[in-house]
Amino acid sequence: MSISMQVQDCLERASWIRKMFEQGAALRKIHGDDNVFDFTLGNPTVEPPAAFHRELLALAQNPVPGMHRYMSNDGYGDTRQAVADLLSEQSGQPVGPSNIIMTCGAGGALNVAIKTIINAEEEVLLLAPFFVEYRFYVANHGGTSTLVSTDRETFQLDLAAIEQAIGPKTRALIINSPNNPTGVIYGEESLKALGELIERKSRELDRQIYVISDEPYARIVYDGKKVPPVFAHIKNSIIVTSHSKDLALPGERIGYLASNPAMDEVKLFMEGAVFCNRVLGYVNAPALMQRLVAKLQHESVDIQAYERKRDLFYDKLTTLGFEMVKPDGAFYLFPKSPLKDDLEFANRALAHNILVVPGTGFGAPGYFRIAYCIDDDIIERSFSAWEKLARELGMKG
Ligand SMILES: Cc1ncc(COP(=O)(O)O)c(C=O)c1O
Repeated sequence: MSISMQVQDCLERASWIRKMFEQGAALRKIHGDDNVFDFTLGNPTVEPPAAFHRELLALAQNPVPGMHRYMSNDGYGDTRQAVADLLSEQSGQPVGPSNIIMTCGAGGALNVAIKTIINAEEEVLLLAPFFVEYRFYVANHGGTSTLVSTDRETFQLDLAAIEQAIGPKTRALIINSPNNPTGVIYGEESLKALGELIERKSRELDRQIYVISDEPYARIVYDGKKVPPVFAHIKNSIIVTSHSKDLALPGERIGYLASNPAMDEVKLFMEGAVFCNRVLGYVNAPALMQRLVAKLQHESVDIQAYERKRDLFYDKLTTLGFEMVKPDGAFYLFPKSPLKDDLEFANRALAHNILVVPGTGFGAPGYFRIAYCIDDDIIERSFSAWEKLARELGMKG
């Protein structure tokens, strides 16, 4: 065999992603781009806010000497200060620039966080359904993923299940709120109870257990809801996030890792994480983007536009008889599959040129995911295909 067994194994686990991509491409060839309704990708079609282009232009017209050089591995001080100021304001905790590392997206930050804390074969708990890449990131650093279900009606934290899953090898738990794929936000009381549980288990097992809070959708929230600040409730917590979604910059690979200033041995953790950012080969986050996002910490894409898409899609599908939790944020719907087998449902949808991701891929069989970060026009034009599909399956149609 020419590649490692671990990578071979990951390729096999991820083969459905490639298959879906190929199926979409084949359908587009036959029916044309406009007649295929692809809801598989969380790649925003909205443009970054106008302030981004304004700052980009200003920087290009007034270049700062040395602005393309290497820098310290944690990033520019003023960018980290801007991020720290916002986190302090939101959490009421004294977050400083020394708690921040600018990273290559949330994916980069997750890898840095996991590598920094994990020993071989230690466990990271993932709450199903979860973002598919988590498993691969944990495997990157020799860890083991343990799946814990969230509440199957509400997709909220199931604290009893988390407690049961924590054992002598548990090093971390990853939470993601607003959640991909369900769109739920974990409530303040729930986070507080999670913080207490983790502290109690850490004491009982005499080991530091971290909560990694993956928050790339934190600014994409609806109905006036807010994401409660994890730093206010969980001592050994790490935020990983990016501007891939809130500023619509996924191709620019800009995000950050933040440590709770109250974390045990926080200085050592940050030293380790800066080292990991370097030796994972990221070296530092893109220089140009760091300069821009320092000025954009209070900006975001048009959230109301996403809220309208959510309402449009949610109202239509529930009218057709699909059942789902109404998302509080992010840009996904996660309905119950009307067929027991979600893979079969995805295939039946495919026959109507609708592409969705089966819940099995997120560790939650019996559901499917729709990404609605696409033009309203495509969403609206897909409705007649959804009606036909629903009728075919004996729903209201
Ligand atoms: C929950 C979640 N975490 C992390 C990421 C990775 O984000 P980034 O592109 O910033 O690496 C994504 C991207 O879709 C995501 O949905």
